[in-house]
Amino acid sequence: MQFFVGGNWKCNGTKESISKLVSDLNSVKLESDVDVVVAPPFIYIDQVKNSLTDRIEISAQNSWIGKGGAFTGEISVEQLKDIGCKWVILGHSERRHVIGEDDQFIGKKAAYTLSQGLGVIACIGELLKEREEGKTFDVCFQQMKAFAGKLPWLYAVPSWDNVVIAYEPVWAIGTGKVATPQQAQEVHVAVRDWLKKNVSAEVASKTRIIYGGSVNGGNCAELAKEEDIDGFLVGGASLKGPEFATIVNAVT
Ligand code: 13P
Repeated sequence: MQFFVGGNWKCNGTKESISKLVSDLNSVKLESDVDVVVAPPFIYIDQVKNSLTDRIEISAQNSWIGKGGAFTGEISVEQLKDIGCKWVILGHSERRHVIGEDDQFIGKKAAYTLSQGLGVIACIGELLKEREEGKTFDVCFQQMKAFAGKLPWLYAVPSWDNVVIAYEPVWAIGTGKVATPQQAQEVHVAVRDWLKKNVSAEVASKTRIIYGGSVNGGNCAELAKEEDIDGFLVGGASLKGPEFATIVNAVT
């Protein structure tokens, strides 16, 4: 399975700092057998698209739930396609827990995004309290159900070919407290098994399950050794070109 590494820049950057990051990314060496994607804030996507090497694909960090129109402040999937995005991150914990998006909203967005031909980086993950209460798998499976259209009010994803699942335990995001390789591997195996039982053995074996949460240049190599960790979704460390390159190249 081809390794997949995404850089989620979140709500960071200015024209100037992004220009520097792009020039760093243009000069680092990235192994050829890794899919590499970066997700700038919406307003800088065009700048990045016009200056970044084609080797790296562009993702949005969110999208509107359906076709554009009278939806003040939203960005449609069609507009993202128009400016050259190939991916959308959906269900990120900051959108679930800070902004309040629920499973229904996220599942519908994923179905719509895929129906328009863009890929989806589908995020799942438990809160610290949920882990401590032994609910990690339940929470992740419930979030998977929403993406897979297994809840009665949801739209099923039309195809899994363009889906990457990102397991991002909320307690590990931006905290410096990375999951151990064993903790991540355990959840990745469980999610793959869920896919096998609820979607198909083929989808389970082909879908990349990547890990996110305090991944950096120092811990990526150990994590990458785990059999079911098929890449990373990187926040803070993706804002530094050389460190992001180290993470991209971790598997080799
Ligand atoms: P950090 O790498 O900063 O912990 O963020 C992870 C993340 O949320 C990526 O989407």
